[in-house]
Amino acid sequence: MFVFIIFFITINSIHSSIRTIDDCQLLIIGGTTSALGALLSASKILNTPTCLLEPTDWIGGQLTAELLSAPDFAYHIIKDKDTNFTLNVGSIDRQLNNQNPLFVKMLNILGNTGHCWVSPKCSIPELFHSQVILPLVNNTRIFYNTVIKHITKDSSNRRIIQIDAIQRSKRQTSSEHCRFLSEELPDWYSKEDSLWFTKNELSFRNISFVIEGSSWGEVLVLSNASYIQGLMEEFDGDTSGIGNSTCGQSFTFDFLEQLRETPVDELPNPLPEPTGGANYSFEHLTWERIWTYRRVNTSAPNSDIVAVNDLTIQNWSEGNDYRKEYFFLSPSDTQHQRDTNQWQGGVNLDAIENAERLAYGYHYWYRKNAPTQWTNRTVLIRSISAAGTCHGLAKMPYLRESRRSIGFENFLMNITTISGYARNLHGYIFDDRLCIGAYNVDIHSMVQCTYPSYMHESYSILPYYIPLRAMTNRDIDNLIVIGKTMAQTFLVNSATRLHPVEFSIGQAAGVVGTYAVQNNLQNITEILREEHLKRVQSIVKEFTPTSWTINGTRYPDD
Ligand SMILES: *[C@@H]1O[C@H](CO)[C@@H](O)[C@H](O)[C@H]1NC(C)=O
Ligand SMILES: *[C@@H]1O[C@H](CO)[C@@H](O)[C@H](O)[C@H]1NC(C)=O
Ligand SMILES: *[C@@H]1O[C@H](CO)[C@@H](O)[C@H](O)[C@H]1NC(C)=O
Ligand SMILES: *[C@@H]1O[C@H](CO)[C@@H](O)[C@H](O)[C@H]1NC(C)=O
Ligand SMILES: *[C@@H]1O[C@H](CO)[C@@H](O)[C@H](O)[C@H]1NC(C)=O
Ligand SMILES: *[C@@H]1O[C@H](CO)[C@@H](O)[C@H](O)[C@H]1NC(C)=O
Ligand SMILES: *[C@@H]1O[C@H](CO)[C@@H](O)[C@H](O)[C@H]1NC(C)=O
Ligand SMILES: *[C@@H]1O[C@H](CO)[C@@H](O)[C@H](O)[C@H]1NC(C)=O
Ligand SMILES: *[C@@H]1O[C@H](CO)[C@@H](O)[C@H](O)[C@H]1NC(C)=O
Ligand SMILES: *[C@@H]1O[C@H](CO)[C@@H](O)[C@H](O)[C@H]1NC(C)=O
Ligand SMILES: *[C@@H]1O[C@H](CO)[C@@H](O)[C@H](O)[C@H]1NC(C)=O
Ligand SMILES: *[C@@H]1O[C@H](CO)[C@@H](O)[C@H](O)[C@H]1NC(C)=O
Repeated sequence: MFVFIIFFITINSIHSSIRTIDDCQLLIIGGTTSALGALLSASKILNTPTCLLEPTDWIGGQLTAELLSAPDFAYHIIKDKDTNFTLNVGSIDRQLNNQNPLFVKMLNILGNTGHCWVSPKCSIPELFHSQVILPLVNNTRIFYNTVIKHITKDSSNRRIIQIDAIQRSKRQTSSEHCRFLSEELPDWYSKEDSLWFTKNELSFRNISFVIEGSSWGEVLVLSNASYIQGLMEEFDGDTSGIGNSTCGQSFTFDFLEQLRETPVDELPNPLPEPTGGANYSFEHLTWERIWTYRRVNTSAPNSDIVAVNDLTIQNWSEGNDYRKEYFFLSPSDTQHQRDTNQWQGGVNLDAIENAERLAYGYHYWYRKNAPTQWTNRTVLIRSISAAGTCHGLAKMPYLRESRRSIGFENFLMNITTISGYARNLHGYIFDDRLCIGAYNVDIHSMVQCTYPSYMHESYSILPYYIPLRAMTNRDIDNLIVIGKTMAQTFLVNSATRLHPVEFSIGQAAGVVGTYAVQNNLQNITEILREEHLKRVQSIVKEFTPTSWTINGTRYPDD
């Protein structure tokens, strides 16, 4: 039984009620795929009161709210030029004993209902949320529709002791007007009730450890922790915390389309054309091939056949990938938003709006440019029951990167630890490794950005390991950073950003967090001490592999 102490106070707004919550010792901020992983391992370990704050009403990040229930895995093969020794990283990664068992189980529940070709398992996002994730999180504490607004630290300035958040509830008499994220976001972060929502202020206190699992690295900013965003001009990592604030990877608003039996009319595009026009293209593929790329439901037997009533996710580079503006505000504008108590995520609302327009524009272009037999037969599904929004675009954009922590002793996981000769078989074996992952360096560039020459080199990415130090921040002792906010370079992020890797990182972090709470640790770096590290690693192994199995041999075999 949980008892909430409720205070009613009147400051500026008579609606404002602040609810103090002091029984969430392990507090997970954000509902990314990584955060979900953390919640699910933490909740299996008894006696650690754990809560999670999710900005939308669907937990799961890229798996659900970002509308990508079509997870990629590594696919690449690397080869040494001198000897021709070849390592099929994709096939090693897909071996069952190298995968996170819960992730595999989750994907098997619905299976490959789309017969897509980008992923082994593509299924309908809404079903992935309601039938796969909801039963798993049934007995956990999630605060949905909740964003964070303010963080308080103790006098050492190194511990987070309080996180204030805003939770919104939809009004029953919701207005007809359908709002896009770019219009709605300021409302999420406002304490005031609006035409659409009533608000509750939540104040989380008595926190022992915080897991930064947000999509946008909001804990890093609000706790004034060192972070870096965007491109890094230098190969070996820039720990100045500056980076390039306006250039990084592009981002995408995904949506669902359905193929109808006969041509149907659709309302004309209600949004203005994307600024400057857009160059949509099929690239080297055909219309049909893009259709089956991330198809999530079909009656067709394989990915070569397009069938009536198919449902597909559109997530296409030369389509809805928005490449013109950077998602995050500059560090100084971000700090200004925080320091003037106007926090709204520190994101570029113009970029979000233009990305929405680009996505709609792509739908209309794709529909119009279909081969004759399919012309006017694709529709954007705008019902709440599909993407979970009135407009049909994903609740949240798919981001390839976030603000990234600068770790303990300036640690950044760097490219040399994940790349090398094929004959090395695997990346650098960190003593403090907590999980494994594999994917290629995959950068979707932005227009008007020049990328340092080292980024154009081809890196041979090995099956790699992720260390505890990548989950730390040099300024905050009770913070565990996971997923895209980890302490890693720009290049490494481009190879760790995949669903299965993020989920495994989260599962490991859930163990780290509960261990730290149960053992009354004050500082996450205490776990680097051998007596703790060995115990944590052995608990993590119950959730996710910490060694690679290659040709029947485990690396390392412990
Ligand atoms: C803090 O949380 C712990 C664990 O839930 C609980 O035992 C303790 O009473 C809480 N302290 C306060 C002041 O609420
Ligand atoms: C590597 O393969 C290429 C192409 O098959 C071949 O020409 C070359 O001799 C091979 N090199 C070695 C060292 O075996
Ligand atoms: C959640 O758990 C409750 C009881 O703990 C059960 O009645 C309910 O059916 C469960 N819901 C799902 C979706 O599993
Ligand atoms: C944030 O940290 C920097 C040092 O890293 C410090 O100079 C600055 O005053 C801090 N800002 C706030 C608002 O605490
Ligand atoms: C990369 O990381 C490894 C392991 O942390 C470290 O030993 C090495 O110095 C780093 N290399 C560069 C170029 O920063
Ligand atoms: C579209 O492509 C044309 C020709 O390659 C180019 O001139 C134009 O700048 C592009 N427009 C945008 C918005 O990228
Ligand atoms: C998914 O496809 C199956 C097989 O064609 C069909 O029975 C089912 O109704 C479809 N589901 C949706 C939500 O379209
Ligand atoms: C689509 O989504 C995946 C996430 O599964 C992402 O990694 C990828 O970069 C996106 N692809 C395109 C072509 O936009
Ligand atoms: C598709 O719809 C547009 C707009 O209604 C119409 O102009 C066009 O003739 C239609 N094309 C076909 C092949 O039905
Ligand atoms: C980021 O890179 C762009 C070019 O790609 C450059 O114009 C800009 O000045 C850089 N910004 C910073 C802060 O280095
Ligand atoms: C926590 O540990 C780090 C690394 O050992 C250290 O720099 C920091 O000062 C510690 N925090 C406190 C409050 O002692
Ligand atoms: C794995 O074993 C096969 C068959 O013995 C061999 O051809 C291949 O080179 C081995 N691969 C690696 C990565 O050791």
